[in-house]
Amino acid sequence: MRESAAMSYYQRHLFVCLNQRANGEASCADHDAQAAFDHCKSRVKQLGLAGKGGVRVNKAGCLDRCAGGPVAVVYPEAVWYSWVDKSDIDEIVESHLRDGKVVERLVLPDAVGR
Ligand code: FES
Repeated sequence: MRESAAMSYYQRHLFVCLNQRANGEASCADHDAQAAFDHCKSRVKQLGLAGKGGVRVNKAGCLDRCAGGPVAVVYPEAVWYSWVDKSDIDEIVESHLRDGKVVERLVLPDAVGR
C-alpha cells in the first residue's frame, strides 16, 4: 500500500545525457559524459546513497539542452547541471544528491537550449 502521495521511491533521481550525435552537432558524448556517468554511479554507491529511499543515477538520451553539454538534471528539484571534471561530479553528489544543497556554480543557465 502506498504510504503517501508525497513519498517517492527514490529521494533524488539524476538523469545524465549520454547522447552522441553523428551529424556534427554539439552533443554531450563529445564531452566525455560516459566517464562522468560512470564516476557518478560509483561515488553514489561508495557513499551508500544508492537504492530505494536514496539516489538513482540513470542514463538519458538527448535532453535537448545540448549547447550546455555535458548536462544532467536532478529530480524532484528539477535542477540542471553542467560540469567540467570529476571533482564537479563529486560536488554534485555530495552537496546536492546527499545533502540536498544545490551547487549553484554548476547550475545550467535557463537560456541554454539546443
Ligand atoms: S546531446 Fe545531451 S542534451 Fe542533447
